Formats: sequence, structure tokens, C-alpha cells
Amino acid sequence: MAEIAIIGTGYVGLTTGACFAHLGHSVVCADVVPEKVERLSRGEIPILEAGLEELVREGLDSGRLRFTLGSAEAVASCEFAYLCVPTPQGVDGSADLSYIEAAAHEISPVLAPESIVVNKSTVPVGSTRRVEQALGRSDVFVVSNPEFLREGSAVNDFLHPDRVVIGSDDQAAAIRVASLYVGVPAPLMVTDPASAETIKYASNAFLATKLSFVNAVAALCEAVGADANDVVLGMGYDKRIGHEFLRPGPGWGGSCFPKDVQALLYIAREAGYDFDLLAGVVSVNEEQFNRIAEKVVAMAGGSIEGRSIGVWGLTFKAGTDDLRESPSLHIVERLLRAGAVVRGYDPSVKAPLAQVPGLEIVTDPYAACEGAEVLAVLTEWDEFKWVDLDKLAGVMARPRIVDARNLLDRSAITRRGFTYQAIGQP
Ligand code: UDX
Repeated sequence: MAEIAIIGTGYVGLTTGACFAHLGHSVVCADVVPEKVERLSRGEIPILEAGLEELVREGLDSGRLRFTLGSAEAVASCEFAYLCVPTPQGVDGSADLSYIEAAAHEISPVLAPESIVVNKSTVPVGSTRRVEQALGRSDVFVVSNPEFLREGSAVNDFLHPDRVVIGSDDQAAAIRVASLYVGVPAPLMVTDPASAETIKYASNAFLATKLSFVNAVAALCEAVGADANDVVLGMGYDKRIGHEFLRPGPGWGGSCFPKDVQALLYIAREAGYDFDLLAGVVSVNEEQFNRIAEKVVAMAGGSIEGRSIGVWGLTFKAGTDDLRESPSLHIVERLLRAGAVVRGYDPSVKAPLAQVPGLEIVTDPYAACEGAEVLAVLTEWDEFKWVDLDKLAGVMARPRIVDARNLLDRSAITRRGFTYQAIGQP
């Protein structure tokens, strides 16, 4: 079993560290925020992630997982150093590598000879070389090992991945990284660093393309009187298409897709390739935010100026408390700009959001709809399916729902006299 240091305890680093400890390795996770390290050392998890708290506790109890302040102490005794620091979007769409490079500078003097620095963060093509330069050490290896973790199911995705990708020019270093995954039932692929880095971006860009395509098909279904739910079901039976990632919705968001798609557009532009297709994927997504806001306005009779609108769901998808680039918030901003009074309910949001001033947060789904002209369902939390529809109709000014996740039961809703509109449905 190996000694592994994890630099950065965000959702990628924390999941990676806890899962490696679960697989039997000895793991030390480093962060720069003292309170975070203290809380994690007590087993307190700052994010909502299924199964993660249990794994962290298991690791702490077994002694295979510990947390420390600063990366230098963490890497000193380790054979592997996983870089899991953020790569935020720069102003021009490029990925900002300053955290990665700062981490590389910090660990360089203390890395043991023959150790392996692994890029887990999503980094632009060519970053493996940049980390090598930042380290300035000819006796350590730099390997790319991108993550494909979905928030909300990150633990399961780590332990049961579709594939493990390792990018290295050194076969022996690649085999050493591969050995960390013994016990993980997945195809393992070794390639060069640039290809591994491109696999990550191309995978996320392809998934975003699939979703924009589905949302465009849903718009077409509305125009021609077809039912998008049936259309995607029929498409998905084709094994080359598959049923997954075909749900029409309010657009895609989250911490990865928007930034990774922009980064790939930037990478392509810099390399002299005009990735028009991907630019179109982004426009369809922006258009989708507008389309949902317009549906709400149309259902309210053409204007929402001074009117109350209820919103259910603020996170970028269900099962997470992450609000980054949430389609819901993009749509709420449009409703606020149109003059509406917006009250939002989300099971994982309890306090007002600084990033959306003007949005009132309530802690109960009915309170969000008090006096509302329209309810917009924007995130697919399960609990929305089980609300008391009579009680809901009773609190709304008018019983009208725009369901941007095709989540609710149309027949139960219309039976109770609601006006109901979903996505891609006649
Ligand atoms: C994504 C990738 O799936 C993961 O492999 C990568 O490493 C990180 O980015 P995540 O950001 O957690 O993971 O979200 P994901 O579950 O992929 O959903 C992204 C967005 O697409 C969400 O806004 C979600 O609501 C939307 N979505 C997803 C749909 O609208 N319809 C679908 O069928 C699936």
C-alpha cells in the first residue's frame, strides 16, 4: 500500500483522499485553510456528498487518513503527491493555473527523489509540462490522472468508475499510478499526458453537447407538437446513443461544464482551430435560460413586473448544495430583471445568497409560492414530487407551474386545476 499526499481538500481532493484511504492506502490531505483542516480532522465535511462523511470517518478511525495544514509537511514522507487544487476560469476563458503552479513551487524542495506528482485537477493540454517546469526537478515524475467525478455521486464514481485514465511518457511511473487503483473494477488506460488532458475536456464538452442537443430537440418538439420525453426515450434505445444524459432541462451548469467548455474553446482558439460546434453548444445553453424565463413570463400573462414568482430548486442539480453556475440562478436573475418578486426554496439552501441580491430565500416549499402567479420548478429534487398539491393551489395567487425538469406528474397536477407546462411537451 502506498503513501499518498493530496494537495487541496475541495470535493475532488477530499473524495480522492477518502477513497484512496478506503482502498487501503495511507493518505494525508493538505489544505491552506486552518479551520477547514481542523474541521476535517474532526470528521466534519463542508460539502453535501453522499457517502463521503462515512468514508472520512472510516479513514480517521483506521488511522489511514489524516489532514494537515500546508502541502510541504504532507508530501515529505509520500511517494505520490496528488494536485487537487482549483483551476478557475480566467477572464478570457482560459483555465487559471496559478494554484497548481503555486502548489508545485511549494512542494518542489521537499519531494523525495523518484516520487510522482499527479495532476488530478482539470488542467489545459500541456499542463503536465508546465508542472514539470514549476517543479524544476529532474528526479521526480509528473503524471496526469484526470477525475470524472459527478457531484452527489463522487464517491461511487471514484470507486466504480467507467475508466481510469493515466497520462505519462514514462511507462514505469504510469504503472506505479495504476497500482493505486488495485481493487477498482474499471478499464485502465495509459496514454501520453496531452491525450489524457484532452480526454477530460473532450468528455465534458461532449456531455454538454449532448445536453444542448437534447434541449434544442425539446424546443423543436414544442414547435412541432411532439413529446420530448418520448423522443429521448426512443433515441436512447439506440445503443450508440444510450439513455443517460438525455433529460431535457433548464440548461446545464455546475462547477465543471461551463468552465471546462470555455477552457476547451480557448485551447482550440489558441491552437488555431475554430471549434464552432462547441460555441453553438454554449449559445443553445444561454438560450435555454432565456426560454425558461420567457415561459414563466408568458404563463403569467406577458409581464411579471411587481408579481410574485415561486422557485423550487436553486442548486445546479439535485443531490448537491453547490450553486456554482446554477441554471436555476441564471433564470432567477432573468426573472428579477423582469421586475418579479422571487421567492426561492431549496432543501440545501437556508440563508440568503450574496450572489443573487433580491432573491428571497424561504425554508418551506409552500412559503415560496405564497401569493405567486407562477411556480417555476428548476432543480429536480425528489421531495418536489411529493408535495400536497391542494395545499399548494391554496397558497398560490393562481395555480400555474412551469416545470423545467419534467419532474412532476402532469395528470395529477392538471386534475387539480393547475395550468402546467413542462419542457418539450405539447
Ligand atoms: C460533470 C461530469 O459529469 C463529470 O464527469 C465531471 O468530472 C465534472 O462535471 P457534475 O458537474 O457533477 O459532473 O454534473 P452532472 O451530473 O454531469 O450535471 C451537469 C449539468 O447537466 C447539471 O446542471 C445537470 O442538471 C444537467 N443535466 C444532466 C441535465 O440537464 N440533464 C441530464 O440528463 C443530465
